[in-house]
Amino acid sequence: MHMEPFYLINFKAYPQGTGKQAVELAKLIEKFAKEHHLNMAVAVQPTDIVPVVAATNLPVYAQHIDPVTPGSRTGHILPEAVKEAGAMGTLLNHSERQVDFETLKNSITRAKELGLSVIACASDPAKAGEIARMGPDYVAIEPPELIGGDISVSTAKPEVITAGLEKVKPLPLLVGAGVKTYEDVKIAMERGAVGVLLASGVVKADNPEEALKQLTGECN
Ligand code: G3P
Repeated sequence: MHMEPFYLINFKAYPQGTGKQAVELAKLIEKFAKEHHLNMAVAVQPTDIVPVVAATNLPVYAQHIDPVTPGSRTGHILPEAVKEAGAMGTLLNHSERQVDFETLKNSITRAKELGLSVIACASDPAKAGEIARMGPDYVAIEPPELIGGDISVSTAKPEVITAGLEKVKPLPLLVGAGVKTYEDVKIAMERGAVGVLLASGVVKADNPEEALKQLTGECN
């Protein structure tokens, strides 16, 4: 691999990635990233942005924002609030938090107004191409049927990475779903991705540090 991969670890709403456990996991990830000089960031729930930002120097992404402005918007995730909490960016349109294209476009606009970095997710290369034209910072392709499983996008659908790259360029491409090994990461990078989205492989691991070693090739 010529380039160092970017690893975004999505804590989702797993208990192991929530509240105090989110903070502990983020600290472990930060320590590992520092020791091995790796480019890692985390995506956490809105309520965990402040404590994770306070406890680490990791780049912290919100898992979602709503395209709202401050005001009477009960229950929405206000982009300004996420920014003030210390997030430097947001995931959008994750397969588990999908929005329609209009909403996605407006969310990207709101995020950009505030200088939040945007990783916009797509389920396939065609959608990735459309989403790339909305101007996020990265597009992430995750085949939904592989998310949370043990068969990775790199093994099951490597052609999605190549096709996705064509569709999103010149934007950088991330890929995810089922990524559990360094081999998976290498295939993604060799096919032109700049990094990977990880979740269950790290967050649900019995030993997250060991899992990170396997995922980054830092086994020895
Ligand atoms: O956002 C990343 C995520 O959807 C991938 O999940 O569990 O397949 O690594 P997982």
